[in-house]
Amino acid sequence: MSNAHEWIQRWDTQQERYIERREERFTVIGDVLEEVGPAEPKILDLCCGPGSLGSRLAARFPRAHVTGVDFDPVLLGLARTAHAGDPRRAWVETDLRHAGWWKEARLSPGFDAVVSTTALHWLSGAELTRVYRELAGLLRPGGVLMNGDHVAPAWEEPRLARIAKARRDLVQRDADARGSDTWEAWWEEISGDSAFTELWQERRRRFGDRHGEEPITLDFHLAALRQAGFVEANVVWQRWDDVVMAALVQ
Ligand SMILES: C[S@@+](CC[C@H](N)C(=O)[O-])C[C@H]1O[C@@H](n2cnc3c(N)ncnc32)[C@H](O)[C@@H]1O
Repeated sequence: MSNAHEWIQRWDTQQERYIERREERFTVIGDVLEEVGPAEPKILDLCCGPGSLGSRLAARFPRAHVTGVDFDPVLLGLARTAHAGDPRRAWVETDLRHAGWWKEARLSPGFDAVVSTTALHWLSGAELTRVYRELAGLLRPGGVLMNGDHVAPAWEEPRLARIAKARRDLVQRDADARGSDTWEAWWEEISGDSAFTELWQERRRRFGDRHGEEPITLDFHLAALRQAGFVEANVVWQRWDDVVMAALVQ
């Protein structure tokens, strides 16, 4: 898997087709973290994929320690290979759909920050509510959770939803014109790389065709965060229906 860095670069380009200002999102997450501190943050990157967000934070906070959590063997395989030998990075394989996943994963409370991008929409509303509660318990007092993701537009505002969709479609057409991978094409290509055959087959067993679940609105997220015990929860960045939420524990 010597070409892990190349696959991750292609992953990032592929993701940018769906998240117009992905790097800006990562930067905002770092900005909040810089304010919350400390300078040596202990970070949990939830649903880390191949580790893109954790890499941006590790570059910005050289004394950070970032634990990436995911259930996808291919993406974790890429992350582990690309960052092998970096003592600031750790990887944990676990399925957030199982209550108590963090205990199985042998994680201990005390994180300064939990961060996540483009991932929690894979969970159902009930799973998300439970995961938020678990995360509130994993953070140290005063710690922060940040979640960057598309949220479902309020269905009673169909015209605003159409505007957001039209702008996202435009970004995708630009990506087509540049010849960048779609999600499907990226997976198709990596499945043809013999270095990934076994991991890819394991991925098929775990995920099947599952991708994203029920639409969850911003209001739902914010209410679930407060219910979970976060004392402040709000949007700190937004681009159409793509938001970064930040929530603080007492
Ligand atoms: C679109 S990717 C985003 C990856 C990365 N955060 C990024 O921004 O590039 C969604 C990630 O969520 C992970 N994921 C989805 N459901 C999960 C679950 N139940 N437990 C753990 N990870 C999950 C997937 O494996 C995938 O890596």
